[in-house]
Amino acid sequence: MEIDFADLSGPDRYKLLSSTVIPRPIAFVSTRSTGGQDNCAPYSFFNCFAEKPATVVLGLQVRADGAVKDTATNIRETGEFVVNLVDRPIAEAMSTSAIDFDPDISEFDLTGLTRAPCRTISAMRIAEAPVSFECRRTVILQLSAERDIVVGEVHYMHVRDGLIDPETFRLDLSKYQIVGRLFADLYTPVETSFALERMTPEEYFRRQGGG
Ligand SMILES: Cc1cc2nc3c(=O)[nH]c(=O)nc-3n(C[C@H](O)[C@H](O)[C@H](O)COP(=O)(O)O)c2cc1C
Repeated sequence: MEIDFADLSGPDRYKLLSSTVIPRPIAFVSTRSTGGQDNCAPYSFFNCFAEKPATVVLGLQVRADGAVKDTATNIRETGEFVVNLVDRPIAEAMSTSAIDFDPDISEFDLTGLTRAPCRTISAMRIAEAPVSFECRRTVILQLSAERDIVVGEVHYMHVRDGLIDPETFRLDLSKYQIVGRLFADLYTPVETSFALERMTPEEYFRRQGGG
């Protein structure tokens, strides 16, 4: 089967991309409006793309009625956002926060998630999240009338105690119940892993030759 994207509607492109590029990490993005309202919502068009500068990217689409999402408005107006990562205990709250509430309703209050202050920005982070990155907008690419790509720089990180060794910065995977997005309303935990050794070219050819 071959599919020419030129023949597809936007929803069909979305369906094909979002159901095959899985699992995707989830940025549970918290922002503060210029009026002081704390907002949070999940975004799975998300990943980290560089470490120097430390760069994250979000894909923000308008709502079905064409309205700009609160997260997009707040990032445009304040230049600040927090990427909170999602583990199993806060997955339900993350899902509830995806309901298109009016801007005057705070998902923190609805879900019972706890506001915690950031060090370098005025937006609140989610205290229950295993990891939170304080970010400042680098640039917003307006791909179309419906889709913004937000590029941001990570300035500060909060990690739940016990997850990362403070000497080596190694993550203890057994304590990290991170959740990935599949598609529709499906999610997946990281329950197993396997290792594939990275070799130098010399090592690779030595092993191929049985040496
Ligand atoms: C797991 C998950 C991932 C989502 N990812 C995105 C995304 O990448 N981009 C987007 O525009 N909306 C995404 N949404 C929908 C938004 O979370 C939803 O529209 C939310 O109400 C926006 O809230 P806001 O207006 O407070 O920013 C996602 C929803 C869920 C449940």
